[in-house]
Amino acid sequence: MPANIYVLNGPNLNLLGLREPEIYGRDTLDDIAGMLEDRARELDCAIEMRQSNHEGHLIDWLHEAQAESARAVILNAGAFTHSSIALRDAIKGIATPVIEVHLSNPHARETFRHVSHIAPVAIGSISGFGARSYLLALEAAARLA
Ligand code: DQA
Repeated sequence: MPANIYVLNGPNLNLLGLREPEIYGRDTLDDIAGMLEDRARELDCAIEMRQSNHEGHLIDWLHEAQAESARAVILNAGAFTHSSIALRDAIKGIATPVIEVHLSNPHARETFRHVSHIAPVAIGSISGFGARSYLLALEAAARLA
């Protein structure tokens, strides 16, 4: 059975393509989903791509990823990265490895983006490569034991 990898996207990422394209690029979330589906097939993985503007949905999906024995979660928590202790606790509370992803490089931006509550509980973080951040995370997820 192909490895199941959850790709979870947080607030405002439904606006990708329209939202500050000079920072986040012109690819929509659907474009990114398409790229990931193509690469996932080559890597013999199945991806479950979701987006929500609500913190609780992301927490429920992290729990679900564990219940469904997902190999990994790729998580772009958007601004919740910098604010959500609840998301951090959810990641800490599951055994499923979580890879933190960002399109932009938060460390090269405003200081309030320099803190990530996700990074200390993630297996690794990839940021700054636009849509390719997701592809790099998928490569890493596919190779996890
Ligand atoms: C982001 C970076 C966050 O700081 C920001 O709040 C986002 C997007 C990124 O992918 O670059 O919403 O996670």
